[in-house]
Amino acid sequence: MIALDPAEKKRPEFIKVRVKRQDGPGKDPYWQLFQIKYEPELNIISVLQRIAALATTSDGKKVAPVAWDCGCLEEVCGSCTMQINGRVRQSCSALVDRLLEENDDELVLEPMSKFPVIRDLIVDRKRLFRALQRVKAWVPVDSYYDMGSGERQLRSTQEQNYPLSQCMSCGCCLDACPQYGKIELEQREGESDEAFQARELEAFDEGFVGPHAISQAMLFNNHPTGKALAGERLDALTGPGGIQVCGNAQNCVSVCPKEIPLTTSIARAGRATTVHMIKKWFDR
Ligand code: SF4
Ligand code: SF4
Ligand code: FES
Repeated sequence: MIALDPAEKKRPEFIKVRVKRQDGPGKDPYWQLFQIKYEPELNIISVLQRIAALATTSDGKKVAPVAWDCGCLEEVCGSCTMQINGRVRQSCSALVDRLLEENDDELVLEPMSKFPVIRDLIVDRKRLFRALQRVKAWVPVDSYYDMGSGERQLRSTQEQNYPLSQCMSCGCCLDACPQYGKIELEQREGESDEAFQARELEAFDEGFVGPHAISQAMLFNNHPTGKALAGERLDALTGPGGIQVCGNAQNCVSVCPKEIPLTTSIARAGRATTVHMIKKWFDR
């Protein structure tokens, strides 16, 4: 990749930043335009920090600071995902100098489109984590005492598993997937928190599990201890909202910031679930 040298490029004195805002869950979204001074080597988080410090729109109106989420600032925690210039990505690794190459007029920031907005650019990703529960994306242990070293893994297995283990639950693949529809429920009048949460989980469990969860199921089914739950994971992948929902559009793999081979995982899962269903049929 060619390194950008801001000194050699003609850069604007100011950058316009258009932000899609929302004051709370279920509220109507609206747009606000901000303007900050251009500095070299900014990322989107630094842009948002400058906007928060100003808390003033480009036409001088004082507004509440824009809310966003972030943690690690190095593309590891997955919490800073948003749509930047119409493409879902991490705001900590989105560099303004590169974004100005795409669109030198303004930066456009929006929350992810497939998750309910909590406020401004912060979304509720609990459906994403629920999908990991659905496929039991963990290595089962039955105690906390030292059980010695685990089973050795072949280098070829390690090489297959390592890329999948880099998933940071950022949700980019889900936001880009045409088969992954937004689920946003409202608490009914008089409905208890427990009843609302149960109704929400039921809706999540009927929806598409998503490419991240399919890939994690393949990771743990290929792990010497994790494979103890292989059958349960394949049951989840053949149930409602399972792998059959995937239309193989491949958008997921093209937006994954970790370049996880999601379509390879989906193909592996397709073969594994077919064999699993045939075996179950013969075992009846
Ligand atoms: S390949 Fe499947 S999971 Fe990936 S974007 Fe397409 S439909 Fe979604
Ligand atoms: S598979 Fe990639 S895009 Fe999807 S949640 Fe994991 S890291 Fe993010
Ligand atoms: S802040 Fe953790 S991935 Fe961006």
